[in-house]
Amino acid sequence: MDADEALRFVDSLLVAQGKPPLNDLQRHVFLGCWKGMRFKEIHEACNSSVSREHLERNVGPTLWKLLRDAIGDPDLGKRNLRGPIERAWEKRSSASSAVGVIESGVFQPLLGERSIAEIRQIEPEMRSLIPSESWNTEHPDVSNFYGRSRQLDALSQWVCLETCRMVLLYGLPGTGKTALIAKLVEHVKEQFGMVIWRSLSRGNGQPLRPTELVADLLAVFSQNPATSDAAIANPRPSDLYPWLTQHACLIVLDGFEVVLQPGQHNGQYLPGYESYGELLEQLGQSDHQSCVIITSREQPREIEQMVGPRRPVREMKISGLGAWEGQRLFYERGEFVIDSEQAWQDLFDCYDGNPKFLGIVATRIYRLHGGNISQFLRRVKNDTPLIDDIPEILNQHFERLSELERQIIRCLTNKGQASTIASILHEFIVQSFPLSRIETALLSLQRRSLIDIEAECCQVSSSLICLFVRDWLA
Ligand SMILES: Nc1ncnc2c1ncn2[C@@H]1O[C@H](COP(=O)(O)OP(=O)(O)OP(=O)(O)O)[C@@H](O)[C@H]1O
Ligand SMILES: [Mg+2]
Repeated sequence: MDADEALRFVDSLLVAQGKPPLNDLQRHVFLGCWKGMRFKEIHEACNSSVSREHLERNVGPTLWKLLRDAIGDPDLGKRNLRGPIERAWEKRSSASSAVGVIESGVFQPLLGERSIAEIRQIEPEMRSLIPSESWNTEHPDVSNFYGRSRQLDALSQWVCLETCRMVLLYGLPGTGKTALIAKLVEHVKEQFGMVIWRSLSRGNGQPLRPTELVADLLAVFSQNPATSDAAIANPRPSDLYPWLTQHACLIVLDGFEVVLQPGQHNGQYLPGYESYGELLEQLGQSDHQSCVIITSREQPREIEQMVGPRRPVREMKISGLGAWEGQRLFYERGEFVIDSEQAWQDLFDCYDGNPKFLGIVATRIYRLHGGNISQFLRRVKNDTPLIDDIPEILNQHFERLSELERQIIRCLTNKGQASTIASILHEFIVQSFPLSRIETALLSLQRRSLIDIEAECCQVSSSLICLFVRDWLA
């Protein structure tokens, strides 16, 4: 196993456990240590403004802990890196090859081995009952879909091989949650008896009510005469249970945040939508054979309580595309000119790799700057990257914050660097906010992907968000 292979394996393991892949500094330290370099050499090679002490005292120990937790080997450390990682790699290869393999996000059952229906213990006579799809919205167009192979592999692994019951994808607006799940559905739908896709937003300001959703699902199932009409007249979440147990259904609930109450920081539901909490708990906790995938700009609290890398409920935070995978988003629109490869990286960093924002920016650069990316970057440096619809899209997300969340994110933006949780708590306690409310608000900002919390410190999740808070949230 070479260093790059090891890095890819570690990243896929982390992503599969719902954690982000290693960041740049962690990658430098990982690759350096894998090659047996000392911190002095790693520091010289990584060409970053951070000090050697920071690499050695903070980045290194945090990385070892992250890896120990990810592979479950307490002995992993700087001097004992290769052995534990290679053992974990061998273990995973043999486990997944028992029933099939995942290649580029597609599950390939091994010839003569068990099919998904068998893995999910579906009775033979039920397997061919309802092989169909039901969508309440247009199919998202994923004919021009780029990158995300690690996420697709991990998701396929969860839903096909590990028979997860519930998977949450969460992340900021426009990061590509819906597109990623649409691509996943394309790859894995053959493995499920039925695919049901429901967008919770109906575009009329009235999201799908929980009772409507349950009745709707039962109606879809009832195309099979075995369903009782009485259940549809008076639907309860538990009525779904027999169906989800007997069939391997893939159910997508897209845009879950629309049923959460804006202006609240403890994950409450809109009035009349409270029973979504109960529905999530039932779908995540009862022992059934189907898989429910949820996309949301916010993490629902019920799911937070149920997830775990070795549990049947998983979550994945979706961030932007990497510069290397997202460049085709530009070239599909026309010809672009750059001075250096670094310009791509700068552009992707500037927009956090957000495919929605990059699509807007690509159109702007093509139309106004003759496709010259470096010229656009110079213009952005002197002005603002928040162009066209980007502030409006971010504003929709910020409008959901409570007043205390707004104050905290303003405070973190003004500090311009990571702050200890203790210092933030102190700052707001002296303004007479109760401790538990401040903690809840911090967690809520994290659930909305607006701040990162790590090693008892927190900071705003990106410089684009900082700019938005400065310019638009005054
Ligand atoms: N991997 C990708 N390759 C190409 N285009 C992508 C990719 N991911 C997303 N996009 C495009 O970016 C735009 C935003 O993606 P998408 O709607 O999936 O984001 P989202 O996270 O679901 O946003 P929201 O929170 O608003 O629902 C869409 O036009 C989509 O087609
Ligand atoms: Mg979406």
